[in-house]
Amino acid sequence: MSIDPILELRSVSAAHGSIEVLHNVDIQVGKGEVVALLGPNGAGKTTTIKVACGLMRPTSGSLHVAGQDVTGVPANALARVGVCTIPEGRGIFPNLSVRDNIIMAARDRAGIAVIEDRSYARFPILKERRDQLAGTLSGGQQQMLSLARGLATDPVVLMLDEMSMGLAPLVVAELYEQVTAIAESGVSVLVVEQFARTVLGVADSAVVLSHGHVRFVGPAGDLDDETLSRAYLGS
Ligand SMILES: Nc1ncnc2c1ncn2[C@@H]1O[C@H](COP(=O)(O)OP(=O)(O)OP(=O)(O)O)[C@@H](O)[C@H]1O
Ligand SMILES: [Mg+2]
Repeated sequence: MSIDPILELRSVSAAHGSIEVLHNVDIQVGKGEVVALLGPNGAGKTTTIKVACGLMRPTSGSLHVAGQDVTGVPANALARVGVCTIPEGRGIFPNLSVRDNIIMAARDRAGIAVIEDRSYARFPILKERRDQLAGTLSGGQQQMLSLARGLATDPVVLMLDEMSMGLAPLVVAELYEQVTAIAESGVSVLVVEQFARTVLGVADSAVVLSHGHVRFVGPAGDLDDETLSRAYLGS
């Protein structure tokens, strides 16, 4: 882990309406690091991601990107400095072709050919399917497309919310291989998963949330089954 985190939530609390759902959450993601954010339904994982990408303002605490305090900076401005989120449900345009989905994600028109090539090099199946409507891809292929779209923005931080939802274990393993490669290229990755085992193999460190509180933070290898099941059983 690098000494200065690229993404940092410092003692973040956040509320939906008047109900506080995150309580003093601390998360650090170093350069090129994969951090797994785990926890049961309703733990506050998606809310954490929303704060981290500027979609929600914390009620207290602060958000830092590459050492800069960016608390309260809106999502579109954070996206321009390289904070990229792939939301639950993948965020692709089902009625557009694979190619158009990738092109639309590119930040500058000049780079389109490069970005297409890079996407197809990472996910060869997308090249074969480039003229197909995105909505008719398989679930795994749709997830690849959403990753390709995220990478087209040249992110510094990539956040993935429930990437493996509804996918077969083999497909999930393949996607996580790409996540490892993405992190190795220097991108900091925060991965939300409800089911821990899939992601712990590729994560450097893990944060376990339940009821909006951090229950564990440390190297992924140090997260034992007992800690995990305690968090999931809500004791
Ligand atoms: N838009 C909203 N309005 C009101 N309450 C919300 C809203 N979104 C989430 N919550 C509440 O905030 C808490 C945390 O929800 P969040 O979606 O962050 O959990 P999660 O860990 O992502 O769960 P899941 O694994 O089911 O996706 C829950 O109690 C949820 O009911
Ligand atoms: Mg969620």
